[in-house]
Amino acid sequence: MNSHAKLLLLGLIFFQCSRCDYMGLHLSLELRIAIKSPTPWLISREDLLSVLPKNAIVAEIGVAEGQFSNSILSLTDPIKLYLIDCWEEQSFSIYPEYRPQPTQDGYYELVKQKFGRDSRVEIIKEYSDKAAKVFPDNYFDWIYIDGNHVYEAIKADLESWLPKVKDGGIIAGHDYVVRKDFGIVSAVNEFVKKHDFSICYLTMEYQDGVKHPSYAIKVKK
Ligand SMILES: C[S@@+](CC[C@H](N)C(=O)[O-])C[C@H]1O[C@@H](n2cnc3c(N)ncnc32)[C@H](O)[C@@H]1O
Repeated sequence: MNSHAKLLLLGLIFFQCSRCDYMGLHLSLELRIAIKSPTPWLISREDLLSVLPKNAIVAEIGVAEGQFSNSILSLTDPIKLYLIDCWEEQSFSIYPEYRPQPTQDGYYELVKQKFGRDSRVEIIKEYSDKAAKVFPDNYFDWIYIDGNHVYEAIKADLESWLPKVKDGGIIAGHDYVVRKDFGIVSAVNEFVKKHDFSICYLTMEYQDGVKHPSYAIKVKK
């Protein structure tokens, strides 16, 4: 191989590695399901909020102490924001649901204090799958999924909330990153492939030195 060919090969390998790393897929090649993805990259999930519909009907599934709920309210001014969380200790999964009950109770009280008087907000203390059943089909402009992060839970969340999102709406969520205790990348990619959707945005932020990207899927019915 001549030196030009070697340089070209090295360049290609570098490009491929950096792409994989950005997509958080560097750990497991088997997760690289080919999906449609125009994928504009955004710096942070606050930037994602800036491109999502304003004055919309929105749900955040997995709220904790309402940190991101605050951003949703201030950056998108929704007509209605449903804050859905079980606020219950779930010892069966490692992260982030394993929070002792006193912590969960404290977060629930905090969320009620912060948002209870905001007429745009409805707080629903319920498990995600049960909460989804309460809403009519094609109701939400967009939703943000950040509840239980294990594969089965994300898969169930995506399928149970899909009918509730309007045609042309967005299903977004947190932690599109490969970690041994998360199943988000696999569940999201399988879901996108199965329904022939596309990932329309990915963010690339770190929090405390750890990658925490968000994804957004465009729904087409
Ligand atoms: C990572 S925290 C949410 C953080 C929040 N979205 C933010 O960015 O500020 C995950 C939350 O999901 C909740 N959760 C876990 N499994 C759930 C389920 N099946 N249904 C509803 N909430 C769930 C947990 O109680 C926890 O408060």
